[in-house]
Amino acid sequence: MEKLIIGNLKMNIVSDVERENYFKSFKKSIRNKKLKQTKIILCPPTIHLETFTKKIKNKNVSFGAQNVYYENKGSYTGEISPAMVKNFGGEYVIIGHSERRKYFNETDKTVNQKIKLSLKEKLQPIFCLGETSEERKSGELKNIISKQLKKGLADIPKNKIFKVIIAYEPIWAIGTGDIPTSENIMEVQILIKKILVDNFSLNINKLPKILYGGSVNYRNAKNLCLDVGMDGVLVGGESLHPVDFLKIVEVLDK
Ligand code: 13P
Repeated sequence: MEKLIIGNLKMNIVSDVERENYFKSFKKSIRNKKLKQTKIILCPPTIHLETFTKKIKNKNVSFGAQNVYYENKGSYTGEISPAMVKNFGGEYVIIGHSERRKYFNETDKTVNQKIKLSLKEKLQPIFCLGETSEERKSGELKNIISKQLKKGLADIPKNKIFKVIIAYEPIWAIGTGDIPTSENIMEVQILIKKILVDNFSLNINKLPKILYGGSVNYRNAKNLCLDVGMDGVLVGGESLHPVDFLKIVEVLDK
């Protein structure tokens, strides 16, 4: 099955010079790569989205945003809507990233509203969930994941949930180099699948893609994705270095 490699560039690339360097390095790194079973999705800061779609033309690469608001238009100073992302070249949007939950008061409810409007606008949501190390230590892992998943997908029809890409990102693994064991990942993957089947009546053979995110690099990508049957990876830091990012893609294309 096709693997997704999503680059979350976060709040980086602050100047025209940096952006041009990124394009140069990305184009050089992807040139001559014959990718058979991977799809790359780059999610730059929204200010760069349109330029990315114009400068990187490759059949294996699509684009997305890192957040959207849950209204399409109107007096919401500073916000960006799903319709805007869609109309300016985005096909995906990251929703509910732990940094947004932590610094910008994102709640399960707003995550749900954003997923709903994005689906309506035919943007594919990349829905992030995951636990803190304290939650894991205190035995709250299952409760936290279940709550985030059930509330995030509440009232979304079965045939649409299939379009949501679920990204499991343990918060303690983000940007730390600390990675979960295969058992840790598989436990959460099984839990997510069980909830999708039991609570949302999805068919076990037709589930949404489930990705792993948190300190992924080309050395650990096989362990964190292929060996544990995940459908791809959500990459932060390494997505800023096209040479290494494309090495992750190569590992997962095997
Ligand atoms: P790192 O790959 O830098 O750990 O970030 C992961 C992440 O937050 C992707 O959304």
